[in-house]
Amino acid sequence: MPNEKTADYGPLNHLFGTWEGDKGEDFAPEPDEDATSPYYETITFERAGDVDNADEQVLAIVRYHISVRRKKNDETFHDQVGYWLWDKENQTIMHSFTIPRGLCVLAGGKFDAKKVNNSRITLNVAAKLGEEWGFVQSPFMRDNAKTLEFTQKMIVTKDMLSYTQTTVLDIYGRIFNHTDFNTLRKV
Ligand code: HEM
Repeated sequence: MPNEKTADYGPLNHLFGTWEGDKGEDFAPEPDEDATSPYYETITFERAGDVDNADEQVLAIVRYHISVRRKKNDETFHDQVGYWLWDKENQTIMHSFTIPRGLCVLAGGKFDAKKVNNSRITLNVAAKLGEEWGFVQSPFMRDNAKTLEFTQKMIVTKDMLSYTQTTVLDIYGRIFNHTDFNTLRKV
């Protein structure tokens, strides 16, 4: 991939580096009693250059890895790898990622430059099953723990990153809002 250093990462420029946070809270489905788990989290974002699609679309690429550990026992209970992509021409943000349950997500949204305020940027992306921005999930997940919707809002400043996200699931015979939020500091 060309130009890791000279690619125009636009609003994603704020992401690079390693972030750590200990204020995470996860609300996840269980068959009997749904569980709230406070968590620690580390996110690392790296420059990955840019790419041309069909000789026309240019996307700047940020590669990342997320590791989430339960406060209770320090064990990793969520792992995630993916990319944030910036389409400058269309002022569009994409967030593509996979979680190791047999699920891939491609969420997207318009970047609102009016919301850039003292170097504080807001990234909003969403996906919905069967729509333009959506999911690929394994047959097992489709039949037993189907992801229907994902929305994420991330706010980033020079040294603080916070997010809230909701994953709507069809699991255990009901619709469940699986939510996560955290605030992280640059290290
Ligand atoms: C901080 C982020 C996250 C944490 C800590 C987390 C944690 C959990 C936990 C504890 C469960 C319950 C199942 C189990 O006990 O293993 C679960 C289920 C699930 N999560 Fe997440 N999750 C996170 C983010 C996400 C995201 C971003 C997605 C997808 C967009 C996702 C999709 C799912 C699905 C499909 C299930 C159902 C599987 C099942 O419960 O058997 N999660 N998650």
